[in-house]
Amino acid sequence: MKRFEGKVAIVTGAGGGIGSAIARRLSSEGALVIVTDVNADAANQVVNGIKADGGAATMIAADIARKDACFNLVEQAFGLQDRVDILVNNAGINRRGNLLSLSDEDWDISFTVNLDSMFHLCRAVLPHMIAGGGGAIVNTASQWGLYPAPNHIAYNTTKAAVAAFTQNLARDYAPDKVRVNAVCPGEIHTPMLEAGIRRSGRTIADLDKLVPFGRIGKPEEVAALVAFLASDEAAFICGSLVEITGAQAVA
Ligand SMILES: NC(=O)c1ccc[n+]([C@@H]2O[C@H](COP(=O)([O-])OP(=O)(O)OC[C@H]3O[C@@H](n4cnc5c(N)ncnc54)[C@H](O)[C@@H]3O)[C@@H](O)[C@H]2O)c1
Repeated sequence: MKRFEGKVAIVTGAGGGIGSAIARRLSSEGALVIVTDVNADAANQVVNGIKADGGAATMIAADIARKDACFNLVEQAFGLQDRVDILVNNAGINRRGNLLSLSDEDWDISFTVNLDSMFHLCRAVLPHMIAGGGGAIVNTASQWGLYPAPNHIAYNTTKAAVAAFTQNLARDYAPDKVRVNAVCPGEIHTPMLEAGIRRSGRTIADLDKLVPFGRIGKPEEVAALVAFLASDEAAFICGSLVEITGAQAVA
């Protein structure tokens, strides 16, 4: 049975590693997926792939660092079928550094992209979800928001804030049947992780050894969790921060 037949889902950062896997997974289960990213080429490729597999998807390019872009994105998505059932706040950036090495710009843009975008997108989407009788929001936090890895103070602090934002939103809108949860991935093999290991001089095999499960995670594994949390099977899961780490507690 397809869990998202007749539903409309927005996935941010859907041109990237985890976001594209989420978009593919939701569409394979029947959703019309709004594939949105600041990188329009990457997002278009994802849409083409989904359509080639028989799914439904629409690309909307948006820089979610801009408040107006967040509102326009939601309004355009809503205009397609007069509904938005699922919002996956997945887009994120990772500026490496400690307090003294980070620039002001690194700090500010980390909060703008990783946290403020969720504030604006949720403000835009909530009235539609409430009017439609409910919905599901899944935010991408990080294991590092719960157990900080060294030298990533801006990233880790934004992800801790995403966790707190998720729990607050869930409490406030549970009475409206809008379920809000977050996933907290560990090391997942994506372009973001590839960029990180290039900077640190480590290899994937080095990272595999740090995970008790014996390997780092796959984007499809995060996508499966996001799909579960967005589905009616998770009807009573609200305000949860779900770790997906292969039992790794700290990087
Ligand atoms: N890969 C990991 O190990 C890992 C671990 C924990 C959490 N995460 C989180 O998962 C999410 C996805 O990460 P990923 O690893 O797939 O990275 P990625 O770099 O492959 O994908 C991120 C996507 O977000 C998009 N994006 C960045 N800034 C944007 C903006 N201003 N507007 C719109 N889109 C923008 C990028 O273009 C990119 O396509 C992020 O929130 C990241 O912090 C990743």
